Amino acid sequence: MKTIRQIGLVLVCVLFASGLYAFSDDIELGGENIRGTVMFPHEFHMGEIDCMECHHDMQDGENVLDEYDLEEDNPDILCGACHNPKETIERMEAFHYQCVGCHNNYKMTADPTGPTMCGECHIITK
Ligand code: HEC
Ligand code: HEC
Ligand code: HEC
Ligand code: HEC
Repeated sequence: MKTIRQIGLVLVCVLFASGLYAFSDDIELGGENIRGTVMFPHEFHMGEIDCMECHHDMQDGENVLDEYDLEEDNPDILCGACHNPKETIERMEAFHYQCVGCHNNYKMTADPTGPTMCGECHIITK
């Protein structure tokens, strides 16, 4: 158990260093890139939307992800684990299709929605 926890700690540090990690509730995405950081209020979404609507492991058009794999520090669940530059849907597209796609869908309803404009998500500090 102890070693597992230590490995976990190392992973947290690695993720933190890569600018990917997450204080508390919000997940900080990007940052090292030209468009700047995107703050993703993960917990806020978790309250409203089913995990499997965003997280998936697609096989033959079916989501075969085991919900128990949705654990902190599991690198396999990160979007970029599958959506890399070699895939049809690369990383940026994966995020844009999912985040902006859903916010756009909600725009057609009476319910509140999230941001759809570049500058509302991308915080450019330069
Ligand atoms: C709902 C939020 C959202 C909106 C709206 C949005 N983006 Fe993004 N965008 C993201 C996320 C999340 C990523 C992935 C960040 C990462 O980890 O690299 C991303 C990645 C990117 C990237 C690749 C990473 C980088 O910084 O080079 C570019 C370029 C980009 N977006 C441009 C745009 C432009 C241009 C618009 C407006 C047309 C836009 N985005 C609108 C959330 C958004
Ligand atoms: C609205 C979409 C959405 C919903 C709903 C959602 N997630 Fe996530 N989750 C994401 C995104 C995007 C990331 C960041 C992935 C990345 O960095 O590549 C993430 C990251 C994670 C991570 C890894 C980061 C961390 O905090 O350790 C875990 C674990 C996780 N989600 C579990 C869950 C569980 C459990 C649920 C349901 C209770 C859930 N998620 C619901 C989109 C969502
Ligand atoms: C285990 C691998 C894997 C992971 C992790 C993964 N995806 Fe996917 N995703 C796929 C595959 C495979 C498809 C089917 C399309 C394709 O062949 O690229 C897909 C399709 C999509 C699509 C288009 C279909 C749809 O659902 O509307 C979007 C958008 C998407 N992924 C976003 C994401 C985001 C955002 C994350 C992180 C929260 C994520 N994916 C994590 C493998 C993965
Ligand atoms: C499946 C649908 C769905 C997906 C996917 C989704 N969102 Fe949202 N998002 C919503 C809804 C609905 C709201 C508004 C909820 C409310 O105000 O009650 C929202 C609100 C937000 C807000 C505003 C939060 C606040 O405090 O008012 C931000 C920022 C945001 N989303 C960013 C993102 C980013 C970044 C992603 C992709 C990583 C994403 N969302 C993916 C549905 C989604």
